[in-house]
Amino acid sequence: MSVPIVDLRAQYHRIQPEVDAAIARVVASTQFIGGEECRLFEQEFAAYCGARHAIGVANGTDALTVALRAYGIGPGDEVVTVANTFIATGEAILLNGARPVFVDVEAASFTMDPAGLEAALTPRTKLILPVHLYGHPANIDAVLAVAGKHGLPVLEDAAQAHGAEVAGRRAGSLAHAACFSFYPGKNLGAYGDAGAVTTNDPDFAARVRQIANHGGGTHRYDNVVVGTNSRLDALQAAVLRVKLRHLEHWTRERSERALAYTRLLEGAPGLVLPREQAWGRSAWHLYTLRVERRDGLQAHLHSRGIATSVHYPRPIHLQPAMAAAGGKPGDLPVSERLSLEVLQVPLYPELPLETLEWIAQETRSFCSAG
Ligand SMILES: Cc1ncc(COP(=O)(O)O)c(C=O)c1O
Repeated sequence: MSVPIVDLRAQYHRIQPEVDAAIARVVASTQFIGGEECRLFEQEFAAYCGARHAIGVANGTDALTVALRAYGIGPGDEVVTVANTFIATGEAILLNGARPVFVDVEAASFTMDPAGLEAALTPRTKLILPVHLYGHPANIDAVLAVAGKHGLPVLEDAAQAHGAEVAGRRAGSLAHAACFSFYPGKNLGAYGDAGAVTTNDPDFAARVRQIANHGGGTHRYDNVVVGTNSRLDALQAAVLRVKLRHLEHWTRERSERALAYTRLLEGAPGLVLPREQAWGRSAWHLYTLRVERRDGLQAHLHSRGIATSVHYPRPIHLQPAMAAAGGKPGDLPVSERLSLEVLQVPLYPELPLETLEWIAQETRSFCSAG
């Protein structure tokens, strides 16, 4: 038997008639850019997040890049973020000409350690950008407390956290604004690239929309500021509208599977299991083990046909692409240690429980043989 890390085919089979009908509707309308599907998706996704506005964009990287631009962030500015994330978080800062300043994460939640935040702020700091990693929300109230003290806006990188919650509030409405990716493998994934920015601030929403659509004014060929082409397309919006209706149910199925892994793996020697922290509900995008003999466990599972992944093998402050930020080994001990220990095992709503039990058993037998 072979088990993928995520099974989009199984998901498609569950919702095939709805998705096929939605795609056919867009094709028949020939309204491929903008229009009703995009408008309705934005409305429905904003409501899902508990935010007033959602602006569809072309992908999650653009959501971050355009949002930072809408804050007016540019050369000479600093944005405080984490290195235990996908490269896009840092790229968006550098693409705006600003400097990423990396703080370490807490091992227990894999997310920004608020304790290190204040020391990272300088007069050049313009924004704080925590990442809700693997579906688990960052300790946002602690981050907001520091930000509030210094009058700084907080932007959530919620690319992996559709449906994650802090005290009953969903990712997307936890700070001034939030950025989402709808990359196909995400908890809410399109059939191609797509992304969104959410916010309660109408002026900020208007600026994001303007920048994402060629800096447009009220008339079609008014171009008020230098913008870009980062629009959500209607086919993606139509697919996302279908999937959004299932998201709560899928999140529950993910959560049940995460709990099952935890029950079956509890006490296995050399394993640290992911836990929801007191402040948050995880959307369980990924189930992330910490294991000293990570490469050995990965090879063992692979030999049994079980796919795994390592998010991320190198914290981004050590990526050559981030050299301008001046990071060096030893700067972020927790992030650097995690990059050697983390391993993701298959987790998706359609993962059969017997398969999950087998994966857990294979994991346990490797650990016990250590
Ligand atoms: C934490 C994080 N931020 C940003 C992005 C960028 O999103 P996209 O791949 O849609 O550009 C991703 C996507 O993988 C991500 O995981």
